[in-house]
Amino acid sequence: ETATDVYYTVTAQAGETQILPGAKTKTWGYNASVLGQTIVFPVGKHIHVTLQNHLPELTTFHWHGLIVSGPYVDGGCHAPVYPGEEKHIDFTLDQPAATTWLHAHPCPSTAEQVWHGLATMVLVTDAHSASLPLPHEYGVDDIPLVLQDRRFHEDNQLDYHADYDPDGVQGPTAVINGTVNPYFDVTTQKLRLRLLDGANRREWRLHFSDDLPFTQIAGDTSLLPTPVTMTKLMLTCAERAEIVVDFKGRQPGDKVTLFADDVPIVEFRIHAFQPDNTALPEHLFTVSAPTVDPALPVRKVVMSGMDEQVMLDGKKFNMQRIDAKQPVGQAEYWDITNTNEMHGGMVHPFHMHGTSFLVISRNGHAPYPNETGFKDTVGVNPGETVRLLVKFDLPGVYMYHCHIIEHEDGGMMAQIQTY
Ligand code: C2O
Ligand code: CU
Ligand code: CU
Repeated sequence: ETATDVYYTVTAQAGETQILPGAKTKTWGYNASVLGQTIVFPVGKHIHVTLQNHLPELTTFHWHGLIVSGPYVDGGCHAPVYPGEEKHIDFTLDQPAATTWLHAHPCPSTAEQVWHGLATMVLVTDAHSASLPLPHEYGVDDIPLVLQDRRFHEDNQLDYHADYDPDGVQGPTAVINGTVNPYFDVTTQKLRLRLLDGANRREWRLHFSDDLPFTQIAGDTSLLPTPVTMTKLMLTCAERAEIVVDFKGRQPGDKVTLFADDVPIVEFRIHAFQPDNTALPEHLFTVSAPTVDPALPVRKVVMSGMDEQVMLDGKKFNMQRIDAKQPVGQAEYWDITNTNEMHGGMVHPFHMHGTSFLVISRNGHAPYPNETGFKDTVGVNPGETVRLLVKFDLPGVYMYHCHIIEHEDGGMMAQIQTY
């Protein structure tokens, strides 16, 4: 190992996890029985990763949010690792600090593999973000929260096929970092939470007890330009948010609860802490938006249908077909439309591999204040058109799709070649 090379091994494996009292649940994970330890990738280092598959079926290792060359390093459906096989990838990251994640992506069994536990957080770190006065002591005042939901059947087992729903599998039990009813011992006045919607289809409408305000500092793939204070936050599938909660005035013994709708999902137990009244920086990140040549047409993407009828641009995914091409370095507007107003209308979270985009507008109106940084996933509401500014920096083939995972597996996905 040299100063510029770092090495990791990621093993997809089966195991058993004590999630509920009684029988252990059979689960899958990365170097762990379920989910996995947070991976940290510093930008600028040459990163070497060994991918091992110890599962009884093929899987892929997709780096959701990392800007790496597709489709093999990126780990979508084009990059199977067969049972017992080992592969090596390497890349150097040139992107802002962010909370990203690793998940399985074999088409069409992404949803089932993620349901069994193949998802874990990946933090990209850089000098700019480390220099800011933000909480960044991992496990102390900077903690990951992977938000998922599951149904447990007889003997506490998962049964994906029994629960199958083409519009996305859900369960009644919130499972946070692979546990139920978790609590965290708070020993600092300020706490940074890195939230990931790792659910197959569920949206999380989050708030704290007593409507305690909190401040969002980062979205999917960068810090926000300025912090945004709020009391409620909604995440759609695969979206991330980093928030800072200030427990000023709370006493040892107090409890603060994080809720999803009206269900308590995490309890924060307050202990003694040193007062910390430093204000959060007013400026966090400079977004440099690339310029779009006004002569270029706006690209249109249509997400339509429900259940087995879901399609992207009127088609189902075909790995042999390139659906679009875009030159490397050329910024373009993409208009993403969700035509689904009927049948109660689902939000489709639109995700792109291989790049980060900016949200320009929603039905012609300004985007939400907490989506002003770089993102890779955006919730598109029924009847809405969201305009994105998209530029690719690397040549390759990249998928884009709805991140309700059963919609993706059901073919609501396409691929672009950049050149
Ligand atoms: Cu997180 Cu193509 O996915
Ligand atoms: Cu992805
Ligand atoms: Cu969808």
